[in-house]
Amino acid sequence: MEPLKSPTVVNPNAIVTVNPAIENYQFGLLHNTDHPVLAEMEALAEANNFPIVGRLVGVFLETLAKTAGAKRVFEFGSGYGYSAYWFARAVGAEGQVICTEADLLNQQKAEAYLTAAGLWDRVNFQAGMAQDIFNATEGEFDICYNDVDKGDYPEIWQMAKDRIRPGGLYIADNVLWRGRVAVEQFKDVFPGWTEAIRQHNQMIFDDPDFDTFINPTRDGVLVARKKS
Ligand SMILES: C[S@@+](CC[C@H](N)C(=O)[O-])C[C@H]1O[C@@H](n2cnc3c(N)ncnc32)[C@H](O)[C@@H]1O
Repeated sequence: MEPLKSPTVVNPNAIVTVNPAIENYQFGLLHNTDHPVLAEMEALAEANNFPIVGRLVGVFLETLAKTAGAKRVFEFGSGYGYSAYWFARAVGAEGQVICTEADLLNQQKAEAYLTAAGLWDRVNFQAGMAQDIFNATEGEFDICYNDVDKGDYPEIWQMAKDRIRPGGLYIADNVLWRGRVAVEQFKDVFPGWTEAIRQHNQMIFDDPDFDTFINPTRDGVLVARKKS
């Protein structure tokens, strides 16, 4: 019998990770994820071309966080709170999501959206560089989530890995970078970012203390679980 072939298309002229028909199918399976605030956040992202994780990855993040029993999540690069929405649902009323964001205007938007969603009291949103805020925050985390500028990915991994509790997760978005990590001739939109993501991914897969996997949904989500 022929082995099953992945439907993933790597087309050098149009960077695609997962076939859009498959993502549409996945969208069609979702239910109970609708909230008016989500739709507003998604509309803003569409209008401003702002890179939120989107609903498929959002559901994935919430599921991972619930599976890990996460109560304390640190987000590197929170935008206006879309990914935090999913983590905040997962950690429950007693949990906390520490959000970091370089752009102060995004903090104001996050407060409005997450207040409307009834989740703001689980969020500690701090404006500034994620690296500085992380260094100023004590303790271990159930999840460290990385979604900052991609050139900083190796640095974020190095600082986060030692502060994830055993059994906890390191999660990073955009690790396939629209296929650029796999296809040499793709032009780097931001110089050095593709190489930084490649280096980041390699370091994590080579780390014996973590079990690591990349989910290719949307732009690729890396999940690394610290061994217990
Ligand atoms: C891809 S967006 C985050 C999207 C968000 N995680 C979501 O899915 O809704 C990246 C955000 O990180 C912020 N950012 C980039 N580098 C940062 C850094 N070193 N520290 C704090 N924020 C950073 C940017 O201003 C931007 O809003």
